Amino acid sequence: MNIKVIKGSPIKIKGVCLALWCFEKDVLNPVIKQVDKQLTGIIRQLVKEKIFEGKLNQTTFIYSLGKLNVDKVILIGLGKKKEMTLDKLRQTSATIAKIAEGKGIKKLMTNLPDMKIKGMPAMDIGQTIAEGTILSLYKFNKYKSEKNNNEKKLSELTLLTENEKNVKTLKSGVSIALKISKAVYFTRDLINHPGNTATPTYLAEQAKKIAKQCNIKCKILNKPDMEKLGMGGLLGVSKGSHQPPKFIILEYWGTKKNKAPIVLVGKGLTFDSGGISLKPGQGMEEMKTDMSGGAGMIGAIMAAASLKLPVNVVTLVPASENMPGGSANKPGDVLKTMSGKTIEVLNTDAEGRLILADALTYAEKYKPKSVLDMATLTGACVIALGNHATGILGNDEKLIDDIKKAGEVAGEKVWQLPLWEEYDELIKSDIADLKNIGGRGAGTITAAGLLKKFASEYPWAHLDIAGTAWTEKPKPYVPKGAVGVGVRMIVQYLRTSF
Ligand code: BES
Ligand code: MN
Ligand code: ZN
Repeated sequence: MNIKVIKGSPIKIKGVCLALWCFEKDVLNPVIKQVDKQLTGIIRQLVKEKIFEGKLNQTTFIYSLGKLNVDKVILIGLGKKKEMTLDKLRQTSATIAKIAEGKGIKKLMTNLPDMKIKGMPAMDIGQTIAEGTILSLYKFNKYKSEKNNNEKKLSELTLLTENEKNVKTLKSGVSIALKISKAVYFTRDLINHPGNTATPTYLAEQAKKIAKQCNIKCKILNKPDMEKLGMGGLLGVSKGSHQPPKFIILEYWGTKKNKAPIVLVGKGLTFDSGGISLKPGQGMEEMKTDMSGGAGMIGAIMAAASLKLPVNVVTLVPASENMPGGSANKPGDVLKTMSGKTIEVLNTDAEGRLILADALTYAEKYKPKSVLDMATLTGACVIALGNHATGILGNDEKLIDDIKKAGEVAGEKVWQLPLWEEYDELIKSDIADLKNIGGRGAGTITAAGLLKKFASEYPWAHLDIAGTAWTEKPKPYVPKGAVGVGVRMIVQYLRTSF
């Protein structure tokens, strides 16, 4: 996708299709009024008949039939001016792009919505429009034998601004969006690939490829390395599978080496059958997405590196399958983790916390400034928050607040659950230090409670994305399937962390 920014007037510009924005109850803003004059009052009529009112994501498509310098006009509603957010701009940009592509339009132009919303500089506006546009057009058709090459694709977007001074800032916003969106595409691809492609080995290979492209250091730990380190959690979970586990390490040193890095840990469970505590068959295919946290953390460091952010970032991804093979973990088995702590495995389906425990211990090596982990960890989080919010828990309120703020800017909602010590009791084992399940109640909290025991050496926050990693219902800038959740939020957090 080619996105240009030029100084120009929406009234005078020549081209194929022009998209114009408006607020509810104020459709006939100065720009649209002028266009409407040339269209001999069609828009005024549409408003009068309440066919188009400028409601959020409402659109109308008009053929100019020679009355304008452009052939077609798309009007897009932003909803109520007072309720405007950056994410609504992202959504409406996506809506315009999809309408245009659906009509076979290859080149689209748009002016900038007239908005002076608090904290919304031109750079963010450029970034947001570009992000919404690119992310909405994502497709995953790698397994279709008939490639629809004739498919008409929207390939160019031109942003028009009448203010020469804005051109440069808008351009830098667009360039940020291109880099971030590339990382989101990469993450979505990894997640959408089926489990027989996206094995731990494949994840490791993709990480190496990305590292080469982005000038990141990459190291992969294999089974013998894990044995030496005593990573009993990761080794235990992988025992039931023929696929060897991998421990992926990516390091991006964007500033002085002596500055403590931010460590990003992601669950890389490439298929979760549940193991001996086998999951029910219905819907099990969705468990190919159980590496969404890992994919997101690889995407996040990729974006950080291509943006050349002046921060040090490390991504750690324990990657494994969870299968019920002959040598699989059995309920009641006790594993010794890298930290030395032992965990009684009462349910082999609570495997994510076991592999994350070792990764959180490994993170200590870096003496990190903070550690953020992301995982499709608990079905309980889907019950608590549904598909609209990621759960957040941790041991540092400032870190949690910073991430919540970053989520707001990125349009990725996070909601905090408590991690009080009262819950610790629920994961005490009779025969080992800890047990990997905590009973029926507070499933997301007890899972995070176990992680907390391995994250005591640094400020830490945990993101449970079980409900937000995958969507059955398409949203304006997220087609059905992998969301790539977390990438934009974490990059936003990294951008504000120095
Ligand atoms: N990967 C699952 C959690 C999950 C569920 C992710 C639904 C996405 C959608 C995790 O490994 C799991 O199986 N958790 C169990 C834990 C239980 C056995 C304590 C769960 O939530 O049922
Ligand atoms: Mn599981
Ligand atoms: Zn899992």
